Order: sequence, then C-alpha cells, then structure tokens
Amino acid sequence: MTPELEQQIWSSIPVPAVLLDSAERIADLNPAAEGFMNNSAKWLMGQPIWDRLAVDAPLEESLARARENGTPLFVNDVDVGTGSRPPLVCNLQIAPVQGQPGWMIMLISPRELAGRMTQSHSVKSAAKSAIGMAEMLAHEIKNPLAGIAGAAQLLSMNLGPEDLEFTDLIVEETRRIVKLLEQVEQFGNLSEPTHQAVNIHDVLDRARRSTLLGVGAHMKIVEDYDPSLPMADGDPDQLLQVILNLLRNASEAADIQNGGTIRLHTFYEHSFRLRRADGTGQTLPLQIEVIDDGPGLPPDIKGDVFDPFVSGKENGTGLGLALVSKIISDHDGWISVESTPGKTVFRISLPLAPKDQEET
Ligand SMILES: Nc1ncnc2c1ncn2[C@@H]1O[C@H](COP(=O)(O)OP(=O)(O)OP(=O)(O)O)[C@@H](O)[C@H]1O
Ligand SMILES: [Mg+2]
Repeated sequence: MTPELEQQIWSSIPVPAVLLDSAERIADLNPAAEGFMNNSAKWLMGQPIWDRLAVDAPLEESLARARENGTPLFVNDVDVGTGSRPPLVCNLQIAPVQGQPGWMIMLISPRELAGRMTQSHSVKSAAKSAIGMAEMLAHEIKNPLAGIAGAAQLLSMNLGPEDLEFTDLIVEETRRIVKLLEQVEQFGNLSEPTHQAVNIHDVLDRARRSTLLGVGAHMKIVEDYDPSLPMADGDPDQLLQVILNLLRNASEAADIQNGGTIRLHTFYEHSFRLRRADGTGQTLPLQIEVIDDGPGLPPDIKGDVFDPFVSGKENGTGLGLALVSKIISDHDGWISVESTPGKTVFRISLPLAPKDQEET
C-alpha cells in the first residue's frame, strides 16, 4: 500500500477516527475527527486525548484492560464533549493496532449527529417530567383517597360480615395506593445530600442489620470489607437508603424458601475516574459492591432498571433503583450493574472525603 492510498483510506473513514499512542496521546486523526474536535490535525497531534475529549463514562479501567489483553472495546451511548460545543451521544469503538503494542485506534460514531442530541435530552427530561407529573398527581390523589377510605369505613359499620369483605378490600387497596404515592413523593422531598465524611462500613452494617431483621430474614449477608477504606464524601442517611434498597431488591429476588447469599464487598480503586461531558472530572476510588446469587435481572428490563416505574415485580413500583440512581448522581458518584443468573453485581463508586473533613 502506498502512503498516498493509506492517506486516502484514512480520509475516507466517514466517522471521526483517532490513532492513540501508548500514552493515550493523539498520534494521528482523520479529517472527520478534525471537524469533530474543531481543531486542526497539526494542533491536535501529540496532545493527550482526554484533554481534548470529555467522555461521560469511566473509561480508564476498561481501556487499560483492552490494551493489555489486545481486545477491542465498544462503549455505547456515551456523551462525548469537546469543550467548544455541547456533548453528543456517541458510540465509541476502540481497538488495539496490530503490530504496535499499546497503540489504539478509536472510532467515534455520533448517533445521528444533530437530531439525536435533542432526542437524548428529551428522553432525560421526559423521565424528569414523568416524576414531576407523578408527584403532582400523588399530591392531588391523596385527599380524595382519604375520603374514599373513610367512607368505606363508615359503610362497614352497617354491613353484615359477608359484605365486610368488600369494604375491607377498598380500605386495603387505598392504603396500598397511598403507600405508592408516598414513595413517589419521596422523590420530591429528596434534598441535596449533605457533605460529610462517611464511614461506608458503618452504613453497610446498619443496612445489613435492618435487612436481616426485615425483608432479608431469609438471606445470608456476608461482609467482605477492605478495612483500610478511607471515608467517603456524602450524606450517610441517603447512602443508607441506597444500600437498603439494593439489599431489599436482592432479598426479593432470592427464593424465599431457600434463601440466598449477598456479599457486601468494598475496595479501593485508585484509577477509577468519571469524566463529565463538561470536561470536569473526578476520581471515584471508593467501590461498594452488592453482590447476590439470585436469578439476575429480568432480560426484558435489564437495560432500564434505573428508570422510574420500571419493575419486574407484580407489586413493584419501580422506584427503588430510580431513587438509588438519583442519590448516587447527586453524590457525583457512579452506579452500574452487571447481571447474569446466579450473579448480580450492583457497583457504586464514590468520591473521597476531603482531607480536612476526615479529622472531624
Ligand atoms: N438484585 C436483583 N436481582 C434481580 N432483579 C433485580 C435486582 N435488583 C433489581 N431487580 C429488578 O429490577 C426491577 C426494578 O427495581 P426497583 O427497585 O427499581 O423497583 P422494584 O423493586 O420493582 O419496586 P420498589 O423498589 O419501588 O418497591 C425489579 O423489579 C427487579 O425486577
Ligand atoms: Mg426495589
């Protein structure tokens, strides 16, 4: 192949393509990538790629693994920003370069360029307004419900035992709706997390004990802690809510007769970083995993479990994980899930408490 042909092929790739050297600096790029990053190849070459691109996903670790193993890495639906303009939702394909140890080639495929952008935002705000709408409804429905339940109770005073069943049903079902509405309202009441130095293990212990006394009485909960884990930055009560929700889900997923085992695993991972679309980044070295050996996420909702009102249970409201995800994102943290039958791992990554907080 002539260098000229090589150049032509490089230029023909219809999506932004960047060649990275082993130090993750831009070694070469095609014209589409120049356009994407809104700068000339001359200026971009040699620059660390992550100074030029902000990716809203913690990539470092998986990228390092791909490099080490010589395997390609596909990352879908991430926001990719370039500093000069709003981020686009992209799919990234990163592959090791044959014969060049440590070098990678990265293809950035924006998902339908302009159109997709607004769509993705409207999806996010749709979820938000679904909750907003539900909150408003919750408020409006609670009063008439109280009236219905009260009327049913009055009626029941004059009824024979055979008809009592029906008024009882009315009262019971209205209670269930009120409970659902209260859960919806929780979202509205959720305040900004406080910033304190939080001992994660205290939170886990509290959650563990209360789960074993209640919804998780049939479970075994094993502690697998890194005792040297430093303090996290966050709100202990909200983090407790998070862990309680995860433990409840794991307990509900297990067979009530045979029980199951949940492992609470904490560890420190120095290199875990979140890069936000606006270019700011944060290290999230504290890792908490809640691992259960139950049946795993139902395949049909696997991709959406963090969305509100997505539930695989007959009586589930689908708000537990939506709340969890909101709290973690308010903490500037990260949550992900990996699930196969027999092993479901919810992993939370949190920032460290600032040094001066730790003293108090
Ligand atoms: N550890 C798990 N194992 C298997 N499936 C799970 C697990 N955690 C969550 N799920 C699935 O994800 C769905 C959504 O969970 P989420 O906590 O958001 O709602 P829910 O538990 O159905 O209702 P709620 O928490 O509001 O009572 C669950 O219904 C369940 O199908
Ligand atoms: Mg739940």
